[in-house]
Amino acid sequence: MKTDLIHRPRRLRKNKNMRRLFRENHLHIDDLIYPIFIVEGVNIKKPIKSMPDIFQWSLDRVNEEIDRLLSVGINRIILFGIPEYKDDQGENSYKKTSIIPKSIAKLKKEYSNLIIITDLCLCSYTLNGHCGILKNNELDNDFTLELLEKQAISHAQAGVDIVAPSGMIDGMVKYIRFALDKRGFSNIPIMSYSVKYASSLYGPFRDAANSSPKFGNRKSYQMNICNRLEAIKEVKLDIEEGADIIMVKPALAYLDIIREIRQCTFVPIACYNVSGEYSMVKAASLKGWIDHDRIMMEMLLSMKRAGADIIITYFAYDVAKILNINNEYK
Ligand code: PBG
Ligand code: ZN
Repeated sequence: MKTDLIHRPRRLRKNKNMRRLFRENHLHIDDLIYPIFIVEGVNIKKPIKSMPDIFQWSLDRVNEEIDRLLSVGINRIILFGIPEYKDDQGENSYKKTSIIPKSIAKLKKEYSNLIIITDLCLCSYTLNGHCGILKNNELDNDFTLELLEKQAISHAQAGVDIVAPSGMIDGMVKYIRFALDKRGFSNIPIMSYSVKYASSLYGPFRDAANSSPKFGNRKSYQMNICNRLEAIKEVKLDIEEGADIIMVKPALAYLDIIREIRQCTFVPIACYNVSGEYSMVKAASLKGWIDHDRIMMEMLLSMKRAGADIIITYFAYDVAKILNINNEYK
């Protein structure tokens, strides 16, 4: 065989410097958003059993966590609230004295350079733990919209930077956009959990946010894990309704969906590297079975390669630390 006819892509992988020159995708600190759980009460830093290094924080102590993030350059967070009391209609999600509005107001005062995003949903605030209000065991879509409106407005009044409705309630983006605009909050962007699958990978989060449904499951509102075309439909609808950023969740098992959406839309795409994806890596690395840092970086890079612009991840601090010290990953 005449070897001079061989194509030689290895030329571009010859050494480290060459590989860096031809590197196509990068992970950057600016891509990352870190989730924080805030619980009603004082002096609380409660570990979450299924999520090593993640805690429920009370508002008087959450500064410890935020300062730790700022020290490595992460200044974007998404907040989840855990109220003291739950009720049928999730009243503690939208009062001025509720945990999230209170947290936004305090933290916006204390930190000038922090982007605060809030998750808008009812599952942590209702007794039955569903993402909407149930009537005769069915989710009452349009009544739920009214409560999401109240929640969005209370966060806006407290000074939130971005709201992120997460319940897969039909019309939520349109309803919230209209409600915000009507009250003079037309500058607050909406990051919609547009494509949220009824995944088993949210298990550890439900421990953390104390938000498991008390009966049944979320399959009448979250998407069927077998579906692809429906994801495109959901994204198109959300963009029409005025979503500024759309999200795919979970991330790792749905990279095909991220890629697909990247090809047919022009809005920023966020993906949520969810609790189950985090806990699997932590658990296996605690057993000494895998290389935590390398696997974490490989997974997050796959999300960038698939087409995500923004990654919500519990690994944000770990990643930032590596990016700050290790050139190889830059
Ligand atoms: C609330 C919400 C959930 C997550 C984010 N927002 C849980 C759910 O829908 O059951 C999951 C995040 C994670 O697993 O890290 N609607
Ligand atoms: Zn929910």
